[in-house]
Amino acid sequence: MDFTSWMFDIQRRTEVALDRLLPAANQPPTRLHEAMRYVALGGGKRVRPLLVQAAGSLVGAAPAQIDAVGCAVELIHVYSLVHDDLPCMDDDVLRRGKPTCHIEFDEATAMLVGDALQSLAFSVISDPVLGGDPCRKLEMVHLLAQAAGSRGMAGGQAIDLGATGQDLSVEELEFMHIHKTGALIRASVMLGALCANAIDDSLRMRLDLYAKRIGLLFQVVDDILDSAADTATLGKTAGKDAAQHKATYVSLLGMQRARSLADELLSDAKSALDGLGDSAARLVEIAEYIVERKF
Ligand code: IPE
Ligand code: IPE
Ligand code: MG
Ligand code: MG
Ligand code: MG
Repeated sequence: MDFTSWMFDIQRRTEVALDRLLPAANQPPTRLHEAMRYVALGGGKRVRPLLVQAAGSLVGAAPAQIDAVGCAVELIHVYSLVHDDLPCMDDDVLRRGKPTCHIEFDEATAMLVGDALQSLAFSVISDPVLGGDPCRKLEMVHLLAQAAGSRGMAGGQAIDLGATGQDLSVEELEFMHIHKTGALIRASVMLGALCANAIDDSLRMRLDLYAKRIGLLFQVVDDILDSAADTATLGKTAGKDAAQHKATYVSLLGMQRARSLADELLSDAKSALDGLGDSAARLVEIAEYIVERKF
């Protein structure tokens, strides 16, 4: 199967699985449940579930386990987007081609949607029905919690807000990006690999190195697209970073050097998978997609 068909297939499966996991819109509290479904369904590239799937298949994990873990990471990601768009953060009105949650509903609902999606993510990843080795499952819950928390995504978001309008060094910018976006991308790969019963240390190290590189790469490309693409293509407001004086790779290095850095990170990510052959083909394709994507 070519990459595009494979990607559509996983995106469709993720949509179906999320639809099942999310509470019905007519179940009280209906406004909260409606808003959760509004933000989680019908959009997004589902890059994190794609990574869970590619890493999980590489180690021969069970499909039901992979699907659940992919949904858990996506739920954390969607929660982070809802809060990222709030007036107290990036103050954005458009997300995935639709009005943001606080615009379509209200701010309090958007806060609660984030809270509830985060809880749902941990409920899904820890669901005893999925079976599996209990220690391994605890490791996965722990890993997701670390990636989402103050030493992961939420911490990166705090750094982002503090850095707005500031001149950061390249090291400081990298530290911010590795946390706000890199942590969850990195965790997606490792969680996919942990869906298997056993994974040897050298494979684990290779996958983690790949995951670190594409985690940073993802936000470098996000910065490039914010500056180079248009709102209709992005499905979110273009040019926001410059307008809000955000510290980004484009503001710090300029467009050309930001693009060179993206190429360098892509090449490093692929090198980390050297020797894994065909089993890592999807991971290579995802890395290429992250650079080539238009939104
Ligand atoms: C956007 O993430 C926010 C970042 C972490 C850079 P995505 O580009 O993965 O957004 P969706 O899920 O496809 O909408
Ligand atoms: C968001 O980074 C990162 C998280 C949501 C954790 P951005 O603020 O650059 O994401 P977009 O551009 O609004 O999607
Ligand atoms: Mg932001
Ligand atoms: Mg934003
Ligand atoms: Mg951005």
